[in-house]
Amino acid sequence: SENVPKAKGEKGERFTSSGFILAAIGSSVGLGNMWKFPYITGKHGGAAFFLLFIVCLIIVGLPVLLAEMTIGRGGRANASLAFYKLTNKKVWGYFGFLSVLTAFLVMSYYAVVAGWTLHYTLESFTGMLFQQGADYKDKFVTFAGGYWPLFWQAVVMIVCAWVLARGVSGGIEKFNKILIPGFLVILLVLMFRSLTLPGAGAGVEFFLKPDFSKLDAESALIALGHAFFSLSLGMGIMITYGSYVDKRQSLGSATLAIGFGDLIYAFIAGIVIFPTVFSYGLKPSEGVGLAFMALPAAFAQMPFGAIFGGLFFLLLAIAALTSAISILEVPVAYSMNRWGWTRKKAAVIVSIACFVVGIPSALSVGGVLGSFTPGGKSIFDWVDFMTAYVLMPIGGLVVTLFTGYAWKLAGEEAGLSGFWYRAWMFLLKIVSPIMIILVFLYSVGLLSF
Ligand code: PFF
Repeated sequence: SENVPKAKGEKGERFTSSGFILAAIGSSVGLGNMWKFPYITGKHGGAAFFLLFIVCLIIVGLPVLLAEMTIGRGGRANASLAFYKLTNKKVWGYFGFLSVLTAFLVMSYYAVVAGWTLHYTLESFTGMLFQQGADYKDKFVTFAGGYWPLFWQAVVMIVCAWVLARGVSGGIEKFNKILIPGFLVILLVLMFRSLTLPGAGAGVEFFLKPDFSKLDAESALIALGHAFFSLSLGMGIMITYGSYVDKRQSLGSATLAIGFGDLIYAFIAGIVIFPTVFSYGLKPSEGVGLAFMALPAAFAQMPFGAIFGGLFFLLLAIAALTSAISILEVPVAYSMNRWGWTRKKAAVIVSIACFVVGIPSALSVGGVLGSFTPGGKSIFDWVDFMTAYVLMPIGGLVVTLFTGYAWKLAGEEAGLSGFWYRAWMFLLKIVSPIMIILVFLYSVGLLSF
């Protein structure tokens, strides 16, 4: 209606249909798939957990994903303004603004980690990583505790700013169209390599051997939390990307394609990682310990390990970069609308601000700020914890309640009616909010088993 502000700086930018799906898969396939999913699957019952994860994806992940894209396309605006435009209530705009803030904060440290992967790609291809001793834990601690991470963080911000400045179809879409096929090729090469290693079976077994006795309430909450994280929900990304989607695009099939893509990549990542880890007698783990400590030790022993190692880190870097641009686009789109900046100006200013805000995170992983640990967590861990466990669940809750209760025309925009509409509404009104609240309580320690 009339008193809702027009989006300034809005150029009516659009994705093509295939470009949108690719970009959304690029966003969802990130470090989470590569270093979190395989490990939690192996630890919580293998194939049994995998099935549980699929269930969580279907009953909570996909409905919220569809809701976010629907809000974005319906509102045709950034992750704050879209809420306001659709209801004409300012308060929803403020709730939406929270996810803009979340994305900005996530990007501030995600860029640091993405930077590490670039450094390791280079070190691995040049063989430098494998010289002078084999204590990869020590090497990582020395690297992350120094000042080089700032350089790589800056490189990531510059790449993202450059891509985003080129626009939706000329930047985001093109970047994904170039990188994702490369990503697939590398993934298949590494999968072939890992499955042909001696003793690969033990790794596959750790990853997939079904153990239904390990499924309990706790693993369900872990599966749910990861479904959320993995689909990049609760931080305005799919709202922002959704605002660039053509009206003719079926959001329902896009939802299925994105969910399926995310799942497949996570699955193959497990097939790449565990045979490699087990074949060289190393211990499975997750996150930093897996990617930067255990796997380099495996590549060091593998014939042509520098190349396979380099390809592995390049894979991580691509996964991280295609996610990073989607995260940064949230505050970039917001600033264009809010302050009427051109895309170029918004990309540059937001990137610089994000870099500055990320400096303390970069220097707190064993660096000069590493010993500053209020409440037992470093700055890096605090930003990670607050965003993943507090702000993202709130963002997800806002989306479900908004679509379930406040905005009456969601079904029309989503193209759902009859049974599918009622099922979607039931999940958004009741199932998802309850699940999100349970995951939230569990992750902040207010609920335990
Ligand atoms: N979904 C991506 C991943 O799994 O890595 C991107 C992402 C989501 C990054 C949420 C960070 C985050 F907090």
